[in-house]
Amino acid sequence: MKTKNQIQICALQGSPRGMKSRTRKLVRFVLSGAEEEGADTELLDLHDRKIEACTACDACALTGKCVFDDDFLSIVQMMRLSDGIVLGSPVYIDNVSGQMKIFVDRLADSIHYQVLTGKYGCAVATTWSSGGEEVVSYLNHVINYLGAQALPGMWVALEDDEQAIYGSEERARQLGRNLVRAISAGTRFPEQLRIIEENRAFFASIVTANSEWRREEYDEWVKRGWI
Ligand SMILES: Cc1cc2nc3c(=O)[nH]c(=O)nc-3n(C[C@H](O)[C@H](O)[C@H](O)COP(=O)(O)O)c2cc1C
Repeated sequence: MKTKNQIQICALQGSPRGMKSRTRKLVRFVLSGAEEEGADTELLDLHDRKIEACTACDACALTGKCVFDDDFLSIVQMMRLSDGIVLGSPVYIDNVSGQMKIFVDRLADSIHYQVLTGKYGCAVATTWSSGGEEVVSYLNHVINYLGAQALPGMWVALEDDEQAIYGSEERARQLGRNLVRAISAGTRFPEQLRIIEENRAFFASIVTANSEWRREEYDEWVKRGWI
């Protein structure tokens, strides 16, 4: 059990529009709610970081390291050091933005090795009108895929009203407060835990297949009783 003032929340948002971004504002509201509950927070704009697209070279599986020397690793480190992760994206053609998808694709090895096990996350999206539910559901799936549990997220359809995001401020703050409360209470979402366990059983075959060249991580999985 964590005390609230130890809790660290990091947020990654996928809009390229900087301070004009409504997704960024929504994520900021979530973080403000988390801060009200005593958490330390950090927000990172993926667009400002250098993140190469995955080339499927398989180096991560073979070595545990990506061939690209860019900002990806430090972002994953930040996620691993956090207790809660907020993912936010605008809806682009009924999906996440390219910035977010390029980042998510680079997470394949982190997913195989379940690096966010025991953590919590939530997802938010903004859209003109369509795709909000699908994007939140996809980002929640990514959070589960990494081994973390996800709180029910939120999306906001704003059309062309740049100010409408403020109408969702309280709901987003509440989401941030709920995220911190779930972390400090160790809330269990049984259906998600079942899915995470199923995923882990599948990924155990990958960790086992890599065991010769990634012995330490394999031994850790054995120690945890996952293999
Ligand atoms: C490339 C692109 C694709 C978009 N695709 C959709 C879409 O499929 N459905 C929709 O309702 N809005 C779509 N939009 C509108 C954005 O989702 C919406 O304006 C969002 O709030 C922008 O977020 P931001 O202010 O954080 O950048 C699209 C916008 C762009 C730039």
